[in-house]
Amino acid sequence: MGKILLTGGAGYIGSHTYVELKAAGHEVVIIDNFSNARKDVIDRLAQITDSPVLVHEGDVLDKAFLATVFASHDFDAVIHFAAKKAVGESVEKPLEYFETNCTGFSTLLMAMKEAGVFRVVFSSTATVYGEPLSLPYTEDHRIAPVSPYAQSKVTCETLLKHLKEADDRWTYGVLRYFNPAGAHDSALIGEDPNDIPNNLMPYIAKVATGELPQLTVFGDDYNTPDGTGVRDYIHVVDLAQGHVQSVDKLIYDNSTHILNLGTGTGYSVFDMLRAYEKACQKPLAYTVGPRRAGDIDCFYADPASAREILGFEARRGLDDMCRTSWNWVSRLRNV
Ligand SMILES: NC(=O)c1ccc[n+]([C@@H]2O[C@H](COP(=O)([O-])OP(=O)(O)OC[C@H]3O[C@@H](n4cnc5c(N)ncnc54)[C@H](O)[C@@H]3O)[C@@H](O)[C@H]2O)c1
Repeated sequence: MGKILLTGGAGYIGSHTYVELKAAGHEVVIIDNFSNARKDVIDRLAQITDSPVLVHEGDVLDKAFLATVFASHDFDAVIHFAAKKAVGESVEKPLEYFETNCTGFSTLLMAMKEAGVFRVVFSSTATVYGEPLSLPYTEDHRIAPVSPYAQSKVTCETLLKHLKEADDRWTYGVLRYFNPAGAHDSALIGEDPNDIPNNLMPYIAKVATGELPQLTVFGDDYNTPDGTGVRDYIHVVDLAQGHVQSVDKLIYDNSTHILNLGTGTGYSVFDMLRAYEKACQKPLAYTVGPRRAGDIDCFYADPASAREILGFEARRGLDDMCRTSWNWVSRLRNV
């Protein structure tokens, strides 16, 4: 089994990946600056895995900090989650997004190179594809990022490509996530944004707990069966298991891959709302507002390559996502 460094390991996807890596027998070390995570996540990870959690608090932009971490451990691979992730905010703060997402990643890669660690799994996003020319998105769909956030991820993907061309010791997994949702079965970890959530499920969850009065559905006149936008939601535990398969592929097969992680099934905003109402057993208020600039009718993944190359299969459905999300937020907020 390998020793894996998780940057951003206290965050939403990182914390779930920590649990799945430990379950698969890997040793795991976390780096996080806690800019978007609560410190008690670490105690909760210890509780779920029934073992102490090794954490180094610090920033991926801090070269000296990274050098100390790499000098203290002999890593087989790194999984890089640490980044800023809000598409809307990136439009207002492109500089901050490029600094954290691109400079942060190149600083990490430099530290890896100096330490002789050449395997990395990178958190990318389906938003790299932009407006769909055809659906489902396959990995060879043209890349056309619309936001600074998506562009920052494309820049990191491109850097990896050049790095491997320059030095064949590098192997990497680029994982393009669709829409992660849901929480761990223990209800001890999940998504808990401080601000108004950018994503649909945490928004609906805050309506269900009473923290927000209602959901605004941005447009019900899209070219979809019920008129609302359709997206490919993937359970965060399935996503986390995809990371275990990806890092194993790097360690045991030395094989680079660029893959979608999605289910291949699209759900509309109303599908999500109804499924969440079933999970929390109450009606949830909503209103229909105008379309949001830049939103598209529908997008979903072709998951065939991830199945073929990693053996990846998303096993949890919409009801699992809503049930685990509700268990998590209702426990957290004592609802
Ligand atoms: N959640 C999504 O919908 C989604 C979709 C596609 C891709 N992604 C990508 O997946 C990754 C993880 O996303 P998430 O939803 O878990 O986000 P998150 O914000 O919950 O987790 C990111 C973690 O990184 C930490 N972090 C941020 N900047 C850091 C820095 N400079 N140094 C050290 N730690 C830092 C934060 O404190 C947080 O714990 C990100 O790269 C994101 O862009 C997320």
